[in-house]
Amino acid sequence: MTEEYRRLFGTAEGIRIFRAPGRVNLIGEHTDYNLGFVLPMALQLATFIATAPAHDGKLRIFSEHKRQLREWSAAEIANSQPAGDWTDYPVGVARELAHAGFAIEPANLLIRSTVPEGSGLSSSAALEVSCALALLQGRAIDRRALAQLCQRAEHRFVGIPSGIMDQYVSLFGHQNSAIELDCRSLDHRLVRLPEGIALLAINTMVKHALAGSAYRQRVEECAQASRLLGVESLRDVSPEQLAARADSLPEVIRRRARHVVSENQRVHGFVEACERNDPEAMGKLLVESHRSLQLDYEVSCAELDYLVERALAAEGVFGARMTGGGFGGCVVTLLRADALPEFSQRIAGEYRQRFGVVPQVYTCRPSAGAEEVNNFEIIPAAA
Ligand code: GLA
Repeated sequence: MTEEYRRLFGTAEGIRIFRAPGRVNLIGEHTDYNLGFVLPMALQLATFIATAPAHDGKLRIFSEHKRQLREWSAAEIANSQPAGDWTDYPVGVARELAHAGFAIEPANLLIRSTVPEGSGLSSSAALEVSCALALLQGRAIDRRALAQLCQRAEHRFVGIPSGIMDQYVSLFGHQNSAIELDCRSLDHRLVRLPEGIALLAINTMVKHALAGSAYRQRVEECAQASRLLGVESLRDVSPEQLAARADSLPEVIRRRARHVVSENQRVHGFVEACERNDPEAMGKLLVESHRSLQLDYEVSCAELDYLVERALAAEGVFGARMTGGGFGGCVVTLLRADALPEFSQRIAGEYRQRFGVVPQVYTCRPSAGAEEVNNFEIIPAAA
């Protein structure tokens, strides 16, 4: 990366490299903006940013993936307007940092990422968090506050009212555990996965155009459910309370609420199953989560449903579900570790036959949260 940096910007003097991971969410989907529970795991797939000071007052950013170089005046970047492209992430973060009192210093940035875009593995949060660290240049900031700052960038500048899960896990990921996060208190605990199992993310390679607007609509439907039930958020509703009040809700709103309320329960159930080494029970909860997202929350799609059905028919699989916001992206599959090589080949072949695209598959291994790196090797993206 240093060589590439030198080639682009002429010098690599004072270079520093920061990394922020993507994530796979094991269970707890569309619960974060309802202040509920999630169980994501930071991945070895990550966004890396190399940065060094510039001496002409500019902030220059090169995206290797987009093959685009953009520049701003560092002193004026906080007054920028959204451009509707990838630069909204770094600029949104720069604006929030400036508002929080961290002046943006002139610098040249090179972005390289192994997190597949639009895959539901949180390439956006990896980009936001890595940019934040690169722009901070080692200035101290509380990690929780930084997760919230990146989330604000997404709300105010990118225009997606996302929850806190992705930014949080990118900052608090752990090298051998998933993290169970309470999205209200913003406390988490580490959850170690049983031995002998593997997690595979299979990418549908599609992201339907609906994704952004449907996400906003779901956030609004949940807010409506909370208003009608007289609670601050759906986090405050038990399955029994919801059942007792179900008739007072419009049909669609009732189903949305039922997903969120039951999904919070499934997160606890999954963590307990994990702790007693019970992959069968974990797998069952994954499937229930998928059904709920498919039928009650209506954020799945034909490609995701196909992968889940094929996974469930395969030898050694405990369970599978869509992961992330939905309408494309990945299915996460829990299976016996020894079944992994044959399974990943087989499912890739079946998907290609059905949809004419070769799906990427990623073996999910946990990684630490965002940090400065010096000597590192990029882990190949494909499993
Ligand atoms: C996207 C959002 C997250 C979360 C998930 C759904 O990834 O960024 O905040 O809401 O969708 O669980």
